[in-house]
Amino acid sequence: MTEMMRIVDILRQQPLGETIEAKGWLRTRRDSGSLSFLDLTDGSCLAGLQIVAEPSLGNYLTEVKRLSTGCSLRVRGRLVASPAKGQPVELRADLVEVLGLADPETYPLQKKRHSLEFLRSIAHLRSRTNALGAVARIRSALSFAIHRFFREQGFILVQTPIITTSDCEGAGEMFTVTTLNPVQMNKHNPFADDFFGQRAGLTVSGQLQAEVFALSHGRVYTFGPTFRAENSNTTRHLAEFWMLEPEMAFCDLAGDMEMAEAMIKALIAAVLAECAEDLALFDQHVAKGLIDKLTKVRDCRFVHLTYTEAVAELQRGRRDFSYPVRWGVDLQAEHERYLCKEVAGAPVIVTNYPEAIKPFYMRLDDDGRTVAAMDILVEGIGELVGGSQREERYEVLARRMTAAGLDLEQYGWYLDLRRFGSVPHAGFGLGFDRLVQFVTGMSNIRDVSPFPRTPGSAPC
Ligand code: 4AD
Ligand code: MG
Repeated sequence: MTEMMRIVDILRQQPLGETIEAKGWLRTRRDSGSLSFLDLTDGSCLAGLQIVAEPSLGNYLTEVKRLSTGCSLRVRGRLVASPAKGQPVELRADLVEVLGLADPETYPLQKKRHSLEFLRSIAHLRSRTNALGAVARIRSALSFAIHRFFREQGFILVQTPIITTSDCEGAGEMFTVTTLNPVQMNKHNPFADDFFGQRAGLTVSGQLQAEVFALSHGRVYTFGPTFRAENSNTTRHLAEFWMLEPEMAFCDLAGDMEMAEAMIKALIAAVLAECAEDLALFDQHVAKGLIDKLTKVRDCRFVHLTYTEAVAELQRGRRDFSYPVRWGVDLQAEHERYLCKEVAGAPVIVTNYPEAIKPFYMRLDDDGRTVAAMDILVEGIGELVGGSQREERYEVLARRMTAAGLDLEQYGWYLDLRRFGSVPHAGFGLGFDRLVQFVTGMSNIRDVSPFPRTPGSAPC
């Protein structure tokens, strides 16, 4: 009997002597003597399956000898131990059926290595390459590991809305969602006649809604796309990115940091265990020493610094930063990288930032100047996680919201959570694309997002 198998399973199980069928895309064809060797990939793993095609195949001269990179094939044959170096097994084909051709004159992917910049211009084909294919598998493994981790910790998954009327971060970076054209907009109240009767936008964070469920279910998380219309053309910003946001009732800042550190380590442990072959590719070709770096993060203790201590370290460092540091300014990527690399040699958790540079929902510290915030900074990326204990005291929250210029009536539901059974609670947001960047060592976030959206660019 012929069994259709994925290449990852063929290479793992190596069912020698059996007739099996595989489907995939041709990476390369090499002719040697009277034989052709086809390297077939189906995306299930980095390694390809070597197919040996003999002239006895009915379509050898008419089709097999003309196959080029990118063609799709169905092959069938017996799996045998490979006499050559480079692969443990090979498939001796008795059938090579061409499913789809890829004209070598116009197919943009060839055997040579392409630059990541070039691959960005063909987002619809780049997932077929080794590196971008490996990114996709690692992204998937990390997503799955996230759900497993939170399930094991007793969290429930909440789907928070993508369309919302509240600007969680208060930074005015929401994309507007409207069915009106500008001409139809009422001058005094532009969104009165709009679909939702008020201004709505794409969410910048699911946190405020996650808090609703934390105050009914204790431990919850939301994981989905978020959108920010910030004009940041950097290697770590996307206009659409995925964020993981756990929220915990009966939890303070210390508990929040403990959970975030445990989670990052568990996720790294999962990819080290499950994606060894893909990580080895990045270690070899993209970021030398990557596996060592990840292993160290998995096994080290994160370093804790208050914002005030971090500023003192940065001032002591006397580096020529493009942005000078003084108490009260927000930390820039260059400062974050310096803290990780030069000061701590490990991920750093910076806590208790000035109240003035953080959003309204963070809990005011007793000194009245700082809030119970925490950012986790990692080497090469900077901020990976941003979180805080939330302000659970009605009066303090209402005061801060007013100061931030928010309409208390519109956020009445959020304030209600402090009027009815308020409890200390905390949570954080992990930038998922930045995590994939950190784990793969890819230097540009556009290369770890399947379909990156950035200012001026949203292909396919
Ligand atoms: O620090 P941020 O803005 O925090 C929040 O949105 C909170 N509501 C999270 C919470 O407490 N539930 O964003 C969280 C993380 C950042 O640390 C960063 O990793 C990532 O989201 N992030 C971005 N990733 C890619 N592109 C962007 N434009 C990003 N902005 C933030
Ligand atoms: Mg932040």
